[in-house]
Amino acid sequence: LSPQVLAGQRVLITAGPTFEAIDPVRGITNHSSGKMGFALARAAREAGADVTLVAGPVHLRTPRGVHRVDVRSAQQMLDAVLAHVHEVNIFIAAAAVADWRPAQAATHKLKKDGSGQPPALTFVENPDILATVAASPRAQRGELYCVGFAAESHDVLAHAQAKRVRKGVPLLVGNIGPATFGRDDNALWLVDERETVELPPASKIALARQLVREIARRLGTDAGA
Ligand code: C5P
Repeated sequence: LSPQVLAGQRVLITAGPTFEAIDPVRGITNHSSGKMGFALARAAREAGADVTLVAGPVHLRTPRGVHRVDVRSAQQMLDAVLAHVHEVNIFIAAAAVADWRPAQAATHKLKKDGSGQPPALTFVENPDILATVAASPRAQRGELYCVGFAAESHDVLAHAQAKRVRKGVPLLVGNIGPATFGRDDNALWLVDERETVELPPASKIALARQLVREIARRLGTDAGA
C-alpha cells in the first residue's frame, strides 16, 4: 500500500490533448497521450486523495477509484474544471491544451468547390485554464494549490522557471516534449519558489508517485503518513 500522503485531500487533474473542431468531421489536435496525467490521477488516488480527472480525447483506461469527466475542446475542459475546482484543494494541469481554435467551426462539412482554392482558416486564442484557476481568489489565498506542466524541447529548466512565474503557480513541472508524448517514461524538473528538484528518467507512474510525494511535502500533508 502506498503511503497515504494525500489522505483526505481533493485533487483535480487535467490530462490529454484537446480537439478543436474545424467542421463536423475535422479538427486540430496534438500528440499528447494523456499518460502522465492519468499516471498522476492513479498515484494521487493510491496516496488516499479523492481524484477527479478531466480528460481530453485519449485511449486510456480510467484508473481505479478515479472520477473521470471526458471533454473535447479547450472551452469544454475549462467549463469542466470550473464546475469542479471549488470542490478541491489541489489542481494539477497536465493537459496539452490547444493554444488556438478555429474562429468558427463550420456547421456542415467543408467541401472542395472546384476552384482549387483551399479554405482559409482563422484562429482565436483559447482560454488558459491553468492561469485562470491560478488567478482565482482561492488560489491567491493559498486554499488551492496549483501545479503546472511545461513540455519543452530545450532549456527545460529555464523555461519551467519562467513559466512558473508567468502562470502564477507555486509549482511548475518541466519535461522534455514532444519526445515524451506517448511514451511510458519521462524525466521531470520540479521548480518552485525556493528550489529545483530533478526526478531522473523513470516510468511515468514512478515519476507520478514521486511528484505526489513532493506535492504532499510542500503542503505538509505527508506528516502522519
Ligand atoms: O503555455 P503552455 O501551454 O506551455 O503551458 C503549459 C501549462 O499550462 C500546462 O500545465 C497546461 O496544462 C496549462 N495550460 C492550460 N490551458 C491552456 C494552455 C496551457 O491549462 N490553454
